[in-house]
Amino acid sequence: MQIDIITIFPEYFESPLKVGLLGKALQKGLLEINLVNLRDFCQDKHRVVDDEPFGGGEGMVFKPEPLYRAITSLKQKSKSPWVVYLSPQGEVLNQKIAEELSQKQHLILICGRYEGIDERIKETLIDQEVSIGDYVVFGGEVASLVLIECIARLIPGVVGKKDSVEKESFSSGLLKYPCYTRPRDFMGLKVPEVLLSGNHAAIEVYRRQKSLELTLKKRPHLLRQTLLSQEDLNFLAN
Ligand code: ADE
Repeated sequence: MQIDIITIFPEYFESPLKVGLLGKALQKGLLEINLVNLRDFCQDKHRVVDDEPFGGGEGMVFKPEPLYRAITSLKQKSKSPWVVYLSPQGEVLNQKIAEELSQKQHLILICGRYEGIDERIKETLIDQEVSIGDYVVFGGEVASLVLIECIARLIPGVVGKKDSVEKESFSSGLLKYPCYTRPRDFMGLKVPEVLLSGNHAAIEVYRRQKSLELTLKKRPHLLRQTLLSQEDLNFLAN
């Protein structure tokens, strides 16, 4: 997968793209990320990317011309580019959206700042508007990183064991079951016996039930969107 990021702060991404599993994925070439400085697409001496909003009001708006040039030139790099604008007005990111986006060959992510981008760019060149949640951050850079981390985990080979991605929260539509490691007894708090039993069928049942219990307690609305078995329903009814 190829991801182009259009930003006025390419330096923002330097460290996050070097560390952890994302850094490794980039090194291995499982994913390619290209940072594109929007100012490189300005044609004026001062490389101005923004201007005042027509009609008045606070803040500045990204001008259409540099964005138009940047997006159209990047789109030519592949047969099926998909242009995503990160904005608080977009559909709120969830695992399903991340899964859909992880299937794309070529993503172009636009990081806005200030009051956003000229509406005519949204109307003509943007395929999807995505928000990382119902709150406002300074700009699309941190939102792009969130989106990239969600997507990268789903690319085969990025996370060592496929199993660990599938068992994470949300991949089954439920929250993840609780995890324990050594020591077996931590200040008198014991690891549940079943996890030490070696009985894999019993462990599966225990974990499924814990996932159901936690989801019901913390995020009950998720249960309505999840495919539940008769056994799950029986458990929840008790
Ligand atoms: N830019 C500012 N706030 C944002 C949000 N919540 N999601 C995506 N981009 C943003």
